[in-house]
Amino acid sequence: MSVTVRAAAKFNLHLGVGAVRDDGFHPLATVYHAIGLYDDVSVSDADRWEVVVTAEDRIAVHEVPTGDDNIVVRAGRALTEHHGIGNAARIAIHKGIPVAGGLAGGSADAAATLVALDRLWSLQTSDDDLLSLAAELGSDVPFALVGATAIGRGRGEIVAPVADNGAWWWVAVGNEQGLSTPSVYRAFDELTRGGSGDPEVPEPLLAALEKGDVELLAEALANDLQAPALALRPDLAQTFADAEEAGALAVQLSGSGPTVLLLCRDATHAREVAGAMQALDHPRVWTAPGPVAGAHVITY
Ligand code: C5P
Repeated sequence: MSVTVRAAAKFNLHLGVGAVRDDGFHPLATVYHAIGLYDDVSVSDADRWEVVVTAEDRIAVHEVPTGDDNIVVRAGRALTEHHGIGNAARIAIHKGIPVAGGLAGGSADAAATLVALDRLWSLQTSDDDLLSLAAELGSDVPFALVGATAIGRGRGEIVAPVADNGAWWWVAVGNEQGLSTPSVYRAFDELTRGGSGDPEVPEPLLAALEKGDVELLAEALANDLQAPALALRPDLAQTFADAEEAGALAVQLSGSGPTVLLLCRDATHAREVAGAMQALDHPRVWTAPGPVAGAHVITY
């Protein structure tokens, strides 16, 4: 028997970052948004932990580790330890989320694994316990469980849903070369010289989401990691320039990058913008709606 769970990519509509904490993490005030790019994770019983990875076209599958260091194995072990059981599983990941792109694909896989194994073994783990296990696996994993649009605080792991009445359309533009999240945070520390006030979620963004007004949303997007990521990767400036030429309403780095997201008026506009980006020599382009659901069972 196998169970398949689908989990979505995330984009930070707002990513406010404060000065580094004693534990090495940064306090965040972020607005997470789940977009329609998905990884599917299928689990089945096995004698030992095993990971296999396949991917859609244009996604660099060789960059995903398949050993015990893969976050899905850590997720599986955390769940079995929590329940005091000795089970193991084969975990097959099919990636539709670009790897090392700032879209939290690994976090999506971890969340999907928790939900899939919970169902496979009928563990009936409570939502609160799943969220705490998720938080230990990574800052973005709890959001991958809940999906839709949500505020993230702490180091990102404390999530609370927000009203989002939009039906937004995005174009994601990927980059051949990934970007490491810790290195972008270090560049942030250097740029801000360790001094940055308490991050806050701005009211105009929450108002834009509640109204479902795309023009207001375009003005309210912000990401404190964009400047440090661009300092590390000046080549990304060309993607931003091309996005404006392609007619995007707004352009923003996704998380710590290097994927860039372009806000579009509707589905038709998104297709046009995606075509224009391809014509401008960006081969890794995807259109995606948002908000979409968090990790959920699709076959059982
Ligand atoms: O929590 P996660 O494993 O995704 O974090 C990866 C790395 O990103 C951390 O080791 C840290 O360097 C950086 N990070 C941070 N502040 C956060 C989240 C992540 O500095 N709030």
